[in-house]
Amino acid sequence: MALTSSAQTLLVDAATNAREHAYAPYSGFCVGAAALLDNGDVVTGANVENASLGLSMCAERVALFVAAQQRPMSVRAVAVVADTTEPVRPCGACRQVLFELAPEAAVLLCNLHGAVHLTSTRALLPLAFDATMLGKSQNTAPHSGQ
Ligand code: THU
Repeated sequence: MALTSSAQTLLVDAATNAREHAYAPYSGFCVGAAALLDNGDVVTGANVENASLGLSMCAERVALFVAAQQRPMSVRAVAVVADTTEPVRPCGACRQVLFELAPEAAVLLCNLHGAVHLTSTRALLPLAFDATMLGKSQNTAPHSGQ
């Protein structure tokens, strides 16, 4: 399903606003993310760092983990925004989590200057390690945690 330009604008704005809530005292690098769900809801996240640096969490994963609890496998699009010259590029860990929780999503890589690069989860992580590697079928349907 193609993303309309108004949905794209809404999602980029939500990610830009979410970035304002980043907790990034160590890197000073603030990131915002927003996920559009199949019911039209938008879930946002920002990076949250820790003095024990490895415990820091990226904006994309904050948003995706909340989305997974609200409506599993419902993410249609994700926007990521940072103060970069080029559109920001998600880290490898976030690409893996995108593949797990938003495999069919459009992904908008953005910066604060209005650059938007449209890509997709699948394009960001070719030859992904996925459920099939474990002999399981790919997870595509909504499911409960029971
Ligand atoms: N960061 C994200 O939030 N998303 C990414 O995809 C890459 C990096 C955060 C983690 C850390 O708080 C800061 O940016 C610097 O790496």
